[in-house]
Amino acid sequence: MRIDIISLFPEMFEGFLSSSIPLRARKKGLLELELHNLRDYSTNKYKSVDDYPYGGGAGMVMSIEPIDRCISFLKSQRDYDEVIFTTPDAPVLDQPAANALSLCRNLILLCGHYKGVDERVREHLVTRELSIGDYVLSGGELAAAVITDAVVRLIPGVLNDETSALSDSFQDGLLSPPVYTRPPEYKGWKVPEVLLSGNDKLKAEWRYQQALSRTKERKPRLLDGIPDE
Ligand code: ADE
Repeated sequence: MRIDIISLFPEMFEGFLSSSIPLRARKKGLLELELHNLRDYSTNKYKSVDDYPYGGGAGMVMSIEPIDRCISFLKSQRDYDEVIFTTPDAPVLDQPAANALSLCRNLILLCGHYKGVDERVREHLVTRELSIGDYVLSGGELAAAVITDAVVRLIPGVLNDETSALSDSFQDGLLSPPVYTRPPEYKGWKVPEVLLSGNDKLKAEWRYQQALSRTKERKPRLLDGIPDE
């Protein structure tokens, strides 16, 4: 998969991209990730990428021209499955959306900033909008990093069997059951007896029941097939 991230602060991604799963995916040749500084696409001598809003109001608006120039350049190089804009007023990313995106070949992530982006970008250049939750971040960079992480770990081959994404919470519509490791008893706090038994069938049944009751208790909407808010 190839992901192109368009941002005013590409340096914000550096630590994230050179560690953990994104790094592993890149090293395995399963992910190509390119950062693009929007300022490089400004034709203005001050390299500005925003302007005052028509009709007044507080805050600056990201201009369409540098965004269009950047996206057009990328599209001249290859076809993209989606051009995604990160914004809090969009549908919230959930596991089914991450699963679907992990099957894409090429994605563009456009990080929003300031008071918003010229609406024509959303109308004509963007194919999809995603939020990562109902709160406002100071920019779309963290949202783009979250989306990238959620998607990249699902690309076949990125995770090894032990950490397989198939056993994640949400992946079968249920939260994950609790997990334990050695020692079997610590300060009198015990690991459930069934997990110490040699009975695989009983252990599997216990895990399933735990997943079910945890979901009922914490995110009951998942059981109706409705993503939790
Ligand atoms: N930009 C600012 N806040 C955001 C959010 N919650 N999700 C996606 N992009 C954002």
